[in-house]
Amino acid sequence: MENFEERINALYKLIEHYATLYYDQDEPEISDFEYDSLVKELKELEKNHPDLIRKDFLTHKVGGNVSELFAKVQHETPMLSLDNVFNNEELENFFHKIEREKDFNVKNFTCEMKIDGLAVSLIYEDGIFVKGATRGNGQIGEDVTANLNLIDAVPKKLIDAPKGRLEVRGEVLMTLERFRAVNKIREERGENPFANPRNAAAGTLRQSEKNNHVISERGLDIFLYYIVDAQKFGITRQSDALKWLDAHGLPVQKAWKFCETLSDVEKFISKWQSEREKLNYVTDGAVIKLDDLTQWQEIGATSHAPKWAVAYKYPPEEAKTKILEIQISVGRTGVLTPVAVLAPVRLAGTLVQKASLHNADEIARKDIRVGDLAKVRKAAEIIPEVIEVDKSARTGSEKIFKMPEHCPVCNSEVIKIPGEVAYRCMNRASCPAQLKESIKYFASRDGMNIKGLGNTLSASLIKAGKVKNLSDIYKLKLEDLIGLEWTKLQKEDKTTIRRVKETMADSIMTEIEKSKSRPFVNLITALGISDVGKHVAGLLVEHFGNIDSMINADENEIASIEGVGPVIARSIHEFFKTEANLNLINDFRSMGLKMSSDVATVSENRFENKIFVFTGTLSSMTREEAGEKVKNLGGKVSNSISKKTSYLVAGDKTGSKLIKAEKFGVKILNEQEFLDMVK
Ligand code: IVH
Repeated sequence: MENFEERINALYKLIEHYATLYYDQDEPEISDFEYDSLVKELKELEKNHPDLIRKDFLTHKVGGNVSELFAKVQHETPMLSLDNVFNNEELENFFHKIEREKDFNVKNFTCEMKIDGLAVSLIYEDGIFVKGATRGNGQIGEDVTANLNLIDAVPKKLIDAPKGRLEVRGEVLMTLERFRAVNKIREERGENPFANPRNAAAGTLRQSEKNNHVISERGLDIFLYYIVDAQKFGITRQSDALKWLDAHGLPVQKAWKFCETLSDVEKFISKWQSEREKLNYVTDGAVIKLDDLTQWQEIGATSHAPKWAVAYKYPPEEAKTKILEIQISVGRTGVLTPVAVLAPVRLAGTLVQKASLHNADEIARKDIRVGDLAKVRKAAEIIPEVIEVDKSARTGSEKIFKMPEHCPVCNSEVIKIPGEVAYRCMNRASCPAQLKESIKYFASRDGMNIKGLGNTLSASLIKAGKVKNLSDIYKLKLEDLIGLEWTKLQKEDKTTIRRVKETMADSIMTEIEKSKSRPFVNLITALGISDVGKHVAGLLVEHFGNIDSMINADENEIASIEGVGPVIARSIHEFFKTEANLNLINDFRSMGLKMSSDVATVSENRFENKIFVFTGTLSSMTREEAGEKVKNLGGKVSNSISKKTSYLVAGDKTGSKLIKAEKFGVKILNEQEFLDMVK
């Protein structure tokens, strides 16, 4: 029998991991549905084992953290989340519970679609947009007023201006059309595509001032669904609130309906389950709210969610189709991943032709064979997967799949490491498939951030024999790049290839040169050590400060760093013991890449309690790099000037911040003065 305590602790770990990727890094690893299922399992276990509950755990609070990039905003009314139900029975129980607790009949609902975007709050004074914030942790959000001002869909002046202070809430989103266009451009430029429209919207809205031009370029949208203290404006029903928002020019989605009974609500839910794929934005459920606002007050909320509304989450869509073939893709660390090639089928609004099969164990467990009729599942904009195959539909011609003994790309031996599920190509040093993935990873944003060096160009550099290991990137010459395939776009059966021209080669060379001065932590991330992403790289840099201490550390010292477990410590230690890796690091050293963090003593706290604001363009570094220097010395970085600001560092082309700093008497530094200070 399963040990409950172990499972609860494992769930805490898993949920924490996925939540960090989702909320803080805008890079989810699993679908929302899978995440919700883990939370549901945890809640069930917690219900039966209250003694094991971790009260401070994130599922007992509202998700999302507050980034240092923006000034903080305290929400006058907390921005809550919603509880979830997954079927009609749970939905009915949710509302019947209210009926049991309160003395009224539960009827009259407003049903809306649940928009999968980024929650924001907008404040208007006499009809003029004055402030906007993200949800953050529900109590404190990020001040994104300047960025919201760049979104056309956010009205700056309301129709029939309501008097006084108005606070409305809704969701910033990217339509599917814009999402596909934005990702196409990113892929052409060799940048990583966004995982889904929600991430695209969040990543776009939470831009630093330096990059805020992308906000208007990418074209975000907004839908509002909530008025804080709506009664102040004479509104007594949610359905009227939606009409009121619309009448004042605040965008409201069309997919909503007033429903008198729970059975009407269920009809709304089932109608939109199939029709939501026709919408131009991603929805992951329906939100059912009691319509009468006086009931809202009577019923109240928990610290996490209101009790007068609930989210009905739709399961991902499923369809049956034939597995035509099983292909193998080889990843950065040599892991062979089987992929099912499917007879094309329409799912969640897109044509699905491939599905991940994860690994050989999974194929054996589900007994998946080539030629099988498979049940395939997909939620909007996530990777499709095979849930099961229909064994009763077999004709006898289906073929059992065997993992190859040789790498399909370099023909080297494939080995299954005992204790691991993965099969690996052992030719770590020169398998072109692994090298291509390593180059892409090395050049990615959290790595050395070399724009333009994406999938196709990495492959063409390897094919042309110009890059045999990562340090060869720094030996490239302009002529090596010209004429190589840069992007390859496949649309239906037409392939469009673009090649590197001189101007493009020139800018890639500049990017490569610029990457040499990226912070040390980026290099540690870029090395691609197994299980070391930017977070663990940050912990290593903070602890060791330079590469030599890292190389010389023993496994125990690495494992003693908080946040680095024994498995990761072993992988780091192994990496630095391998001769080929040490040669690579020496090459990087001789090419002038940073081998230590910028400050002499990382634990120095020279800037304790000091708040820095940056404005304008700096010539010797990006603002993020300057911010890193401040943080390394114990200081804080804020995005806006207040009385508490200690210094404003002003580069070229400064604006309103300079005037504000003068007004508050904040000390102003030029770039050189700042550099002298952080020396
Ligand atoms: S009402 C007081 N309505 O989903 C709670 N929320 O998972 C008000 N969301 O925090 C929320 N569409 O950010 C509401 N039509 C809708 C929504 C919606 C999306 C978001 C919202 C909420 C989250 C909960």
